[in-house]
Amino acid sequence: MNDSITRPATSPVNAKNGPARVTRDCLDPWNYLEISAGGHIRPCCNFSPLGKLDDLGEQVGAIRDNDKFRALRESLLSGDLQSPCQHCHIRKMVPVRAFKRRLEKAASRRDVADSLAPLQVAEFRIDINEKCNLRCDYCAVSSPDYRGVEMDDGLFTRIEKIVGDIGPRATVHVNGHGETTYHPNWMAMCRAIIDAGHRPQIITNLAKNYTGEEIDLLAKFSSIQVSLDSDDDALMKKIRKSVRATHVFETIQRIRDAAARHNIRPVPRMSFSVGIYDPSIWTLESFVHRIIACGVRDVTFWNLVEMQHQTLVKPLRNLDMADRTRARSILSAVRRKLENADVNYIFAGDFDAMVEQLSGATQLRSTFRRIYRALGRRALSFR
Ligand SMILES: C[S@@+](CC[C@H](N)C(=O)[O-])C[C@H]1O[C@@H](n2cnc3c(N)ncnc32)[C@H](O)[C@@H]1O
Ligand code: SF4
Repeated sequence: MNDSITRPATSPVNAKNGPARVTRDCLDPWNYLEISAGGHIRPCCNFSPLGKLDDLGEQVGAIRDNDKFRALRESLLSGDLQSPCQHCHIRKMVPVRAFKRRLEKAASRRDVADSLAPLQVAEFRIDINEKCNLRCDYCAVSSPDYRGVEMDDGLFTRIEKIVGDIGPRATVHVNGHGETTYHPNWMAMCRAIIDAGHRPQIITNLAKNYTGEEIDLLAKFSSIQVSLDSDDDALMKKIRKSVRATHVFETIQRIRDAAARHNIRPVPRMSFSVGIYDPSIWTLESFVHRIIACGVRDVTFWNLVEMQHQTLVKPLRNLDMADRTRARSILSAVRRKLENADVNYIFAGDFDAMVEQLSGATQLRSTFRRIYRALGRRALSFR
């Protein structure tokens, strides 16, 4: 084991000297790999590329061990975080010492001596397609200067080799910045991944009219997360363009039927990724009712990241007080429904708590608290 993991930090801080240093609890730069449709290599979904698989033929192993990757790992080990890590909303902060222990465990299992060296890839995300069949108002794909590319066959041939090297225990995601299943060659690419012994995971709008062959292929995936924000077809047509809820639910059933027909076990885990914003919040109860009825066991709700170009949506925090209170009671009803139906759900980034804070009831409480404090201060100043 390299002693830069186990050695006390260069400027030790303990209970006597002050608060312990903290860092992000993130091993991604060590064991996660993401390759964009154009061959750029990122250390996590949040970071800009730190290398590129280009015609010079540089190997992915060398890129993952280059100076930029090593500097990123060093910054996490010291707690002296680079900007994307400082602003990351996915990973929590932990004491540096605890983080080092975690890395030490992961590294020693794989017998790695150098704490800044890459570990075996545990998760591999291949961004096959940056282009999309839809134009969701809130998505980066719809911004006027967005230029997405499709992965070409030459690059995929190199990626196929990486897929073979990482071994079947790693998880392979084929989530694009656009729509994977809209790539003209997506079936051949995903089939190659499956033939290498993986059951890939995908996030998809599932909006296309899929052929039987495409459905059979999707049935071989381990997990399919469907992005849909409402079962109101007119609303979705306006905000996301060509997608209908009824069609999406039918496609889910076709995938399940195909898995049963081909005796595929376990069947793909179907889940939903649901954007909550104004106006999708107002149809959320009926949509969640349909999600439960179709037997989906996992739902992720996401908060809107605002884009300059968006015109049809706004985040819940921008609602006026009456609508916030209305939104809050919808969220409470939705939580109850999901809990009663035993469906797992998360509000990514805990934003329902934020709505709770912004809602009328809490607002009223904090107004009383402010008045109470002000009165207290005045009473003191009269003395
Ligand atoms: C960019 S899409 C790509 C995959 C696929 N085309 C889809 O829609 O599922 C991945 C996820 O990002 C979400 N997303 C897009 N724009 C967003 C925004 N402005 N704020 C938060 N999530 C967003 C989508 O709803 C989707 O669940
Ligand atoms: S379907 Fe997905 S990638 Fe396409 S525009 Fe909508 S959110 Fe973006």
